[in-house]
Amino acid sequence: MIKHYRLGHPSYETNAVVEHIQITPGTPSPLHYRQTTKEVHFDYVLEKSDIVYGLGENLHGINKRGFLYRSECRDISPHMEGLASLYAAHNFLIIDGEEHIGIFLDVPGIVTFDVGHSDMDTLSISCENLDMDVYILTCSSTKEIVREFRKLIGQSYIPPKWGFGYGQSRFGYKNEQDIQEVLHTHHEHGIPLDALYLDIDYMERYKDFTIDKERFPAFPTFVKKMKKDNIHLVPIIDAAIKIEEGYHVYEEGVKHNYFCKDKDGHDFIAGVWPGRCHFPDVLNTEARNWFGDQYRYLLDQGIDGFWNDMNEPSIFYSAQGIDNAMKKVDELRNQNLDIDSFFSLVHTFSHLSNNRLDYELFYHNVDGTRIRHDAIHNQYGYHMTKAAQEAFQRYDEKKRFLLFSRSSSIGMHRYGGIWTGDNSSWWSHLVLNIKMMPSIQMCGFLYTGADIGGFMEDTTEELLMRWLQFSIFTPLMRNHYCSSRDQEAYQFKNTPAFRNIIETRYALLPYVYSEFMKAALHQDFYFYPIAFDYPQDSIARECEMQLFLGDSIMIAPMYEQNATGRYVYLPEDMLCLTMRSLKDFDAIQLPKGHHYLPVDTHEFTIFIRKNKILVMGDSALSTAQLDDTSLYIFAYVEDSASYSYYHDDGYSTNYDVDQNTTQISVCKDGDTYHIDHPSSIHCQALCIMG
Ligand code: GLC
Repeated sequence: MIKHYRLGHPSYETNAVVEHIQITPGTPSPLHYRQTTKEVHFDYVLEKSDIVYGLGENLHGINKRGFLYRSECRDISPHMEGLASLYAAHNFLIIDGEEHIGIFLDVPGIVTFDVGHSDMDTLSISCENLDMDVYILTCSSTKEIVREFRKLIGQSYIPPKWGFGYGQSRFGYKNEQDIQEVLHTHHEHGIPLDALYLDIDYMERYKDFTIDKERFPAFPTFVKKMKKDNIHLVPIIDAAIKIEEGYHVYEEGVKHNYFCKDKDGHDFIAGVWPGRCHFPDVLNTEARNWFGDQYRYLLDQGIDGFWNDMNEPSIFYSAQGIDNAMKKVDELRNQNLDIDSFFSLVHTFSHLSNNRLDYELFYHNVDGTRIRHDAIHNQYGYHMTKAAQEAFQRYDEKKRFLLFSRSSSIGMHRYGGIWTGDNSSWWSHLVLNIKMMPSIQMCGFLYTGADIGGFMEDTTEELLMRWLQFSIFTPLMRNHYCSSRDQEAYQFKNTPAFRNIIETRYALLPYVYSEFMKAALHQDFYFYPIAFDYPQDSIARECEMQLFLGDSIMIAPMYEQNATGRYVYLPEDMLCLTMRSLKDFDAIQLPKGHHYLPVDTHEFTIFIRKNKILVMGDSALSTAQLDDTSLYIFAYVEDSASYSYYHDDGYSTNYDVDQNTTQISVCKDGDTYHIDHPSSIHCQALCIMG
């Protein structure tokens, strides 16, 4: 059951939810409500065994207890343990105990979730906006809560199938030759690839919707040439527009008043990559449509995928911040700096970027209503992405476009996916990636992934290999970095092992894609904690480094340096595949319970659940060359198993039709197995045990 409470008089419509639910009078029960003049608080006393799930893109575990989180979209790195916020505002959490309670705060401003940080037994939520909608979900299980919540917020974004292929990216590829070489070397080593990402260097001096003619002299021809090799080029788009006479996007924006304003009504100035910039007012319908239509410049040149960045929005400095800092320098020049004056000088500069106070300096025109940015701060990334996706639909409503964003809030999951921002090449960030995936997906963002190998700092062969072994399961699979050590899959000694891993991703795509599509279309589950199916199993409740993936499998990634094996807890009997490649694997039935499994650096495991089927196919150099009608069957069959297999053309928007799902089943008959499948699909048993 979902109850909708309204506090105060919310004047801004976030459009996070798509279902209309009658308002229940009063304050959100069973939370304890308090209000001061400045803040609203909701408290809830936690039982010792309660788990708190959710909160999407945030640090720490799947169980969020013990820390404080703040929904305040920030451009922040490195992602250190003490951070309360990353780039997103995902205000949905679940209390899982005797009762199952989902809480969604539908509010565009900053919210703090103290999940047993101040008092280990108290969940305390506070919010600076006094006006908000609160949804309380109560269901018989946590899984049901997530389903109901996902129904409430509407269908998750569905990318084209090529968006599930492997992508390579670097903040540092400078020109056509660099990109060409990366492609060539992948192919030389037989490593599959679908996408090469263009970071800000493709632009003319970091100006959105321009192309540097020296670096990319014949861009449309280059795009075509890449497409012939089944490679999609995916350019980045930043939120801020450079101030420059003669730059058409800037000039049009100024002319039509499409930029955010300062308090005096002048276009607000913020410093970002290109220097002084304006922010398009994407919360204003006309400005949003205009900004979205700018993507046509690249769409017309054959581009069909984008990543939206710096849309918290990131501010390196405001004019006011720089002025204050310079004044401070003048004041302190030639002075004897003591402890206070020295650190105050350092503080002035170290707090120039992404300073909360700068968000109080500009205003939006929300279709006639002037709203100061800080009150709706968390909505900016959402609306930049909505601008793009709506424009794509206007451009070609029958086609899917790849789109993912750095900043997000709930509601944006209908328009695009997210990547998790500037992580580092640390083992702890591989762990974080594993734990974050199910939390993000609970909030509706099914299409997600992290920068594989780590964005900042130098990766190592072992870390990249283990990270890729996990990422063959994440919907977005992109290696992206900016460090000096080259990080492409062919840069290390054991290239064949890297190729085998990426090939296995392509072989797994029939399952990965089928599970993703079913999850998106039917509010079903892609990644989820094993405790969701075993809420009474006290060990399963604490297992965070193992995940169920869809209908048939569990994964237990390797995440520790120098480890050649790991402990795994099986809440039920499973068939364990230890894979080196699609056709080089060992299979063993394991009973419910604790196991230590050897998993060498070039190996990884997949666990098939009882009476379940894992479908795989042959690998190929790109998703366009995959044959999704010829499948290998891996199954653990005690008596009979069946699988709903979803497949479609991978690019059209007519995906929600029954014909796309077929049934495959395996029945045991004495010592033999029979596979039943439609004649349109060819199935071959590769490993059936039971
Ligand atoms: C931001 C992005 C990163 C990108 C860089 C340059 O830091 O998060 O992915 O490479 O900007 O555009």
